[in-house]
Amino acid sequence: MSDDRLTHLDEVAPRLWPAPHTVAVGATGAAGTEPVGEYLLLPSARHPRLLAPTGRRAASAVVRHSGEGRHASARLKAAVLAAGLRAGLGRVVWRRRLQICLPRGAASGSLVAHLGTVLDREVVMGMHLGPPRANRKPVLQLLDPAGRTLAYAKLGVDALTDSLVGQEAAALTALAAADTGSVRVPALLHDGTWQGHRLLVQSALPVWQPRRPLDAGSLAAAVGEVAAIGRVDDVVLSSSGYWRELGERLDRLPDGAAAERLRTSVDRIGRAAGAVPLSFGASHGDWTPWNMAAVAGGLLVWDWERFRTAVPVGSDLLHHRLQTDLVARLENPPAAAAGTVLGAAALLAPLGVAPRTGLLTALLYSADLATRYLTDRQLEAGARLGNVGVWLLPALDRGIAELEGETWT
Ligand SMILES: Nc1ncnc2c1ncn2[C@@H]1O[C@H](COP(=O)(O)OP(=O)(O)O)[C@@H](O)[C@H]1O
Ligand SMILES: [Mg+2]
Repeated sequence: MSDDRLTHLDEVAPRLWPAPHTVAVGATGAAGTEPVGEYLLLPSARHPRLLAPTGRRAASAVVRHSGEGRHASARLKAAVLAAGLRAGLGRVVWRRRLQICLPRGAASGSLVAHLGTVLDREVVMGMHLGPPRANRKPVLQLLDPAGRTLAYAKLGVDALTDSLVGQEAAALTALAAADTGSVRVPALLHDGTWQGHRLLVQSALPVWQPRRPLDAGSLAAAVGEVAAIGRVDDVVLSSSGYWRELGERLDRLPDGAAAERLRTSVDRIGRAAGAVPLSFGASHGDWTPWNMAAVAGGLLVWDWERFRTAVPVGSDLLHHRLQTDLVARLENPPAAAAGTVLGAAALLAPLGVAPRTGLLTALLYSADLATRYLTDRQLEAGARLGNVGVWLLPALDRGIAELEGETWT
């Protein structure tokens, strides 16, 4: 199996259907076993991107949602495929399916059966098969057989993803008790374990509602609403908990040239701006166009696994800009990173951040993101942007040179 999505399927199948289940593409199962479930592999069994239930309505709903938060042509493709499935094409066209079997008479102990018990109703599931990255983990869309999306489940598969799932459960609990203004957050429905790994279930946000355009002002305002949670102003950088924690994370980094270079850069930031007062507040931590949808009732935001409190105000807006640019300029990540750092003053102005503070905030954000990549060993995991030394660290150093030329009066 050369396709990396098939590798992903190989990895997750035993977690979704533990032994004595057997899972195979297109095969009917060994003697003495009986089929207990099957899934469509879309768009094809050779290069699957999506696992969908076979029921017409549920399959169609899974495919429609797979276009969510993606560009217009991906949404259109998803809509066309969804319409075909709804019309019953699934039976005819996608014959090579994922077949789940159990020894005759064995009790089913699948994850989806467990989730049905958790939600106390019959559920079916769909799942996206993703590209390699260190934080890859199964995210299951849970639907009723009529195709209504009920919830999303996330399952940890190793130490990193277990901690992310745990952090998301804690974040959703904290956010349920906070005022997030127009930002709408999923409710935590279940916080538990499955086969020794963290499992959470959260309510589905109504992403099927008609979309509204999201202008820069509303985006900045929404970042401000999240940052208002526990916000404190005028904290001197070098005496902040944020600075201390960044230092501790840097100390714990695995040895390597990139880690050395990053430590040197952060020392320079401390010398140039350690005495500068900053505002700190909560941050989503992965505030990107594909983790949100603007609808009439507010801004729907999911994927809170990187939520933190007491982060420099504006970090989420910088992340949004960087991630958007990284997608728009696939071939030039260094330019995207440099553009974010050097454009920070203008970008953060709507949040009331002074220009020089804006630059400092962007440097802290970049150092923080580089630390995250190195901590998560994204390079070793084969992530596209895993080598921060070639795109993020040069932008950081360029911005630091700018910062060192500033006078803070
Ligand atoms: N609560 C939710 N409501 C609606 N859609 C969700 C929800 N949680 C996840 N999703 C969908 O599942 C996808 C993957 O979930 P996400 O939390 O972003 O995981 P990942 O960490 O893999 O990016 C999202 O892009 C979104 O389409
Ligand atoms: Mg996401």
